[in-house]
Amino acid sequence: MTTRQHPIGSGFTAASTATDVLAGVDLSGREVIITGGHSRLGREVTRSLVTAGASVTVAARDPQRAAAILTDITNADDINGLGGVQVEGLDLADPASIEAFAQRWQKADRALHALVNNAAMLFAPERRLDARGNELSFATTHLGHFQLTRALLPALRLAGSARVLTTTSGAARFGSIRWDDLSFRSGYDAGAAYAQSKLANVLFTVELDRRYADDGIRAFAAHPGVVIGPGPHAPSAVANYRAQGLVDDDGATVIDPAAGKKTAEQGAATLVFGAISPLLDGTGGVYLKDSDIAVLDNSERLLTRDSIPSDANAAMLDSEDARRLWTITERLLVP
Ligand SMILES: NC(=O)c1ccc[n+]([C@@H]2O[C@H](COP(=O)([O-])OP(=O)(O)OC[C@H]3O[C@@H](n4cnc5c(N)ncnc54)[C@H](OP(=O)(O)O)[C@@H]3O)[C@@H](O)[C@H]2O)c1
Repeated sequence: MTTRQHPIGSGFTAASTATDVLAGVDLSGREVIITGGHSRLGREVTRSLVTAGASVTVAARDPQRAAAILTDITNADDINGLGGVQVEGLDLADPASIEAFAQRWQKADRALHALVNNAAMLFAPERRLDARGNELSFATTHLGHFQLTRALLPALRLAGSARVLTTTSGAARFGSIRWDDLSFRSGYDAGAAYAQSKLANVLFTVELDRRYADDGIRAFAAHPGVVIGPGPHAPSAVANYRAQGLVDDDGATVIDPAAGKKTAEQGAATLVFGAISPLLDGTGGVYLKDSDIAVLDNSERLLTRDSIPSDANAAMLDSEDARRLWTITERLLVP
């Protein structure tokens, strides 16, 4: 729905952090699920939401490892049930695991105020398939989150007013949906597979919001910015990062939020904004950036060392494509 796709003047900037977005916000009594809520951006979202009083369930494919990473957030010896964070097993590439996770939630009769679909398979160098023959980044990042969201709809409805925030990427702008070859039987390319999965995240958001806004469930897709972490970076990654202007000649991370190069705290801001900010009440189905609704820019922009185009464009928000992808996805999920 491109007409809603314009900034609201949130007052935040590219440099705002998750802590800034949550200043003065009390999330006591709010239940949040976040996939991949233990690493890089997700960890920062978890930390800030818990600090604001939310009860956060981190869904991770290796829950013990995730719990170990998160322990310092809560300062708890046993993370489960303490300090507002719980860690539960969920493998987004395994439909049975997703079903089991959602069943556990439903059985507990818990309302869900925000679902943060944040995990992703990033730039898999080689083409891999899930058990059903779907390319693994599409399966993990799109199919898995689609199945999870659908299974949790009753819990989202129970909240009365709920959000589904899906972490996408500016890469969606450069992506295309390979309607006739979603799983790259030919011409696999890690960047194209990632961009397809991230475009699917945005189209999913558009159709989800269209279908469920009347039930009080609003959907947003958010680009966090480029976040590579403070370093030190793996020697194998440094040359690539330098070519992209993400590290300087000394190998130090470049932080330039206005240019889209952010700390994890800054990157997490837009995710938290989409998941909880009351400034977004009454809207949905839009793409967020820099803790606001992004500008719609249909001009051709090139990705260069100094410029990372990440505004919305009409193709990302195309309602016909969104419906088409939804229908195809439903078919792909039939066991
Ligand atoms: N960092 C950036 O510059 C950037 C830019 C634009 C968009 N994004 C998006 O931001 C989100 C977070 O990225 P990040 O940079 O924080 O990446 P990250 O540290 O690699 O996190 C990815 C997460 O996805 C989880 N994951 C992967 N496969 C999974 C599966 N089958 N089941 C369950 N969880 C799975 C990983 O779990 P494990 O720990 O078990 O591997 C990890 O927690 C992603 O959606 C990404 O596309 C990032």
